[in-house]
Amino acid sequence: MGAEVDYAKEIQELKRSMNAVILAHYYQESEVQDLADFVGDSLALAQAAATTKADVIVFCGVHFMAETAKILNPTRQVLLPDLKAGCSLSDRCPPAAFKAFKEKHPGAFVVSYVNSSAAVKAMSDVICTSSNAVKIVNQVPKDRQILFAPDQHLGRYVMKQTGRDMVLWPGSCIVHEIFSEKKLVQLKVEHADAEVVAHPECEAPVLRHADFIGSTKGILDYVLKSPKEKFIVVTEAGILHQMKKGAPHKTFIPAPPDNGCACNECPYMRLNTLEKLWRCMKERTPELVMPTDLREAARAPLQRMLEWSA
Ligand code: 13P
Ligand code: SF4
Repeated sequence: MGAEVDYAKEIQELKRSMNAVILAHYYQESEVQDLADFVGDSLALAQAAATTKADVIVFCGVHFMAETAKILNPTRQVLLPDLKAGCSLSDRCPPAAFKAFKEKHPGAFVVSYVNSSAAVKAMSDVICTSSNAVKIVNQVPKDRQILFAPDQHLGRYVMKQTGRDMVLWPGSCIVHEIFSEKKLVQLKVEHADAEVVAHPECEAPVLRHADFIGSTKGILDYVLKSPKEKFIVVTEAGILHQMKKGAPHKTFIPAPPDNGCACNECPYMRLNTLEKLWRCMKERTPELVMPTDLREAARAPLQRMLEWSA
């Protein structure tokens, strides 16, 4: 039997020798978050990827996030611990079907959620994330019809916030669509002193019970600043790690999904492990590579997002 690897120590050493930066999403396992140079939501991670001076971006998140990093910073090598870390929203919006959807609405302005493939982004006018979606949609010229893809629940939430009518692609996230309204109400009854915080990818019947709705970073900032001591958290449970670190005296209760599990984890995000992170840095693979034409076509709508959300 070989000697055990001290992953944390070796990852730190590899980071220095490779001049790498580790970017991690809040839904990564705690050990991975703790080794990252930067932990953030999709927007903050895209902004960090666009400006980093490191030679290598090690992206601990899902495929579309690593792809976004490559599009925004094409001269850097982008590594992803597990290339199979996809996203149900992106998978449920195949580029050919999206093209047909667009053709049915000629002249419409296309806003795509960042949880989409590069091919879908390339067919869009602007990209948004959960933290800037309202701000982005508010900037679409008033005389244009809007197509919004691929998350119908975020789309419906944005319609409510902006008063803009939008044609929605019927996509949803397999993690956020299985929160149960009934179980959430039961939890609220048990913990009448708790505030409910939720991600806008949840369905409307769940969102209507929320005291605060926002991106992962928005939710984290809210619970850290709030004078309240107890929160029911309706999003992927990985976010609880930063909540507990930032406010150890507060109580965070993960809302349960409707599948019998105690808390809700994204099966794609959780494909990345400490061991895979170490191995991908050591072997410099898997690497995120993209055809140049696709990368360039997807860049303008992403760049517009960064400008519109500045
Ligand atoms: P955030 O941009 O809010 O972190 O959301 C990313 C995501 O995939 C939520 O499911
Ligand atoms: Fe995609 Fe949902 Fe996982 Fe977020 S939580 S990465 S939207 S499958």
